[in-house]
Amino acid sequence: MAQPLWSGRLSDRPSLAAQAFQSSFSFDFRMILEDLAGSRAHARMLGKTGIIDKAEADALLAGLDTLSAEAAQGLLPLPGPEEEPPEDVHSYVEQLLTARLGEAGKRLHTARSRNDQVATDNRLVFRGLTEKTMEGVKTLVSALADIAEAHLQTFMPGYTHLQRAQPISLGFHLSAWCFMLMRDYGRLSDALDRFNYCPLGSGAMAGTTFPIDRAMTAAELGFIGPSDNAYESVADRDYCAELAAALAILMTHLSRFSEEVVLWASGEFGFIELADAWSTGSSIMPQKKNPDYAELIRGKTGRVYGSLMALLSMQKGLPLSYNKDMQEDKEALFDAFDTALACLDVFAPMMSSATFRKDRLRKAAAGGFTNATDLADYLVRKGLAFRDAHHVAATAVRECIQKGIGLEEMLIDDYRVLSNKIDTDVYEALSLKACVERRKSPGGPAESAVREQLARIRNFVSASRT
Ligand code: ARG
Repeated sequence: MAQPLWSGRLSDRPSLAAQAFQSSFSFDFRMILEDLAGSRAHARMLGKTGIIDKAEADALLAGLDTLSAEAAQGLLPLPGPEEEPPEDVHSYVEQLLTARLGEAGKRLHTARSRNDQVATDNRLVFRGLTEKTMEGVKTLVSALADIAEAHLQTFMPGYTHLQRAQPISLGFHLSAWCFMLMRDYGRLSDALDRFNYCPLGSGAMAGTTFPIDRAMTAAELGFIGPSDNAYESVADRDYCAELAAALAILMTHLSRFSEEVVLWASGEFGFIELADAWSTGSSIMPQKKNPDYAELIRGKTGRVYGSLMALLSMQKGLPLSYNKDMQEDKEALFDAFDTALACLDVFAPMMSSATFRKDRLRKAAAGGFTNATDLADYLVRKGLAFRDAHHVAATAVRECIQKGIGLEEMLIDDYRVLSNKIDTDVYEALSLKACVERRKSPGGPAESAVREQLARIRNFVSASRT
C-alpha cells in the first residue's frame, strides 16, 4: 500500500506488524460511505468558498461519486491478507483519489484533519445506527401491543419477589414492557439530539486559517448545525458512552424479558409455547425444546455492558484534545449496536409466533391467594380500616392453607366467624375477573385501563420520529 499520509516527517516506516497494530482499516472501512459523504460536502464547500479551484472541486466530486458507487457495489480494490493495510479509511480514500485524479486528490485535505474527519464520520454512522435501533424498538413495541390487545382478558398472576401477588392480564404485563421500551427509544432519541452537530471544520483541534463555511457542510450532511468548539469536537466521545449506556439499558430490558420467557417456557410454569422455528433441540435428550433465542439475548447483554465499560475507561485519562486511544471507540460501539439490533430483530418474531397457554396462566392466577388483597379491599368497602381488614384476610389465608382450599372456596359460615361484615357477595368480589376488573385506577390492569395504555402505545408507534 501507499506511504502513510505523514511519511514526509519520519525516515523509517513501521514494520508490517506495527502497522497492522495501529491500523483501524479493518473496522473503519465500514464507515466508507459516510467518509465519502463527508468528503463530498467538504469538497463542495472548498469549491464554493474559492479555497480550491472550481474545476478541481468538480473533479473531486466526480471522483468521490465514482468511489461511492463502487463502494456501494463492493467493487473497491482492497489490500490482500498478506499486504500492509492502509492506516485507516480516511488515508485509503485519499490515496485512491490521488492515484486516480492526481493533483486534485491531493487538495481534498485542505482545511481538514483526520481528527475532524473521523469525528464527523462517527456521528454520521452512529446517527444511522441510532435511527435503525429506534426503528427496531418501535417494531418490537408494535408487535407486543398487538399481542397485548388480544389478551386483555387472559388472566395471569402478577408477581413481586417472584411470588404470586395479585391477578393481572397478559395484556397488562405486555403493556408494561412496551412502556419500558418506549423509554429506551426516548433515551436514544435524546442522545441523537445532543450529538447531531457537525464537527467538520474543527481541523486538527483549533479550526483553520481558511475561510470555510461550516454551516454549509453541516447542512449538506443533515446535521442540526456545526458544533460549537473545535477543541472539544475532536476530543470528546461522550456521545459514544451515552449511546452505549442507552443500549445497555435497552439490553437490560430485553434480558429481563428474556428471563421471563425462559421461565414461562419451562414445564413448571408452562405459560408459553414457543414456536418450533424459534426453539432448539438437544443433541442427546430427545424430548428437549429449548428457549435458546431468549437465553442468547440474556447472554449477549453482557457484551453491551462491556462496550459501555470500554468506552468510559478508554476516555477517563485522556487530556484534551484528540488522542489515538479514541480509535478504540468504534469496535466497542459497533459491537453494542450490532448486538442490540440483532436481539431486537429476533425478539419480535419470537414473541409474535409464540402461543400463550391461557389455561395455565389462569390456573396460576387462581392459585397462590392472589385475591387476598381483594378480600381485604372488600372488607374496607364494608367499613373496616385497611389494617384490620388485612389482618382478617391474612387469618383467612392461613385457615385456607390448612384446609388446602382457596379463599373463594371457604364457606360463608367460616368467613362469618372471622368477621360479621362478610356476606355472600364476597364470592363475586374474590372472582378472578372481578379482581382484575376492579383495578381500573389509571395505569391498572382492568381492561378499560389497559385500553388507555394501549392507546398511548399506539400513539407512540404512529407519531414517533423514525
Ligand atoms: N483512525 C483514527 C481514529 O479512528 C482516525 C483519526 C486519526 N488521527 C490522527 N491524528 N492520527 O481515531
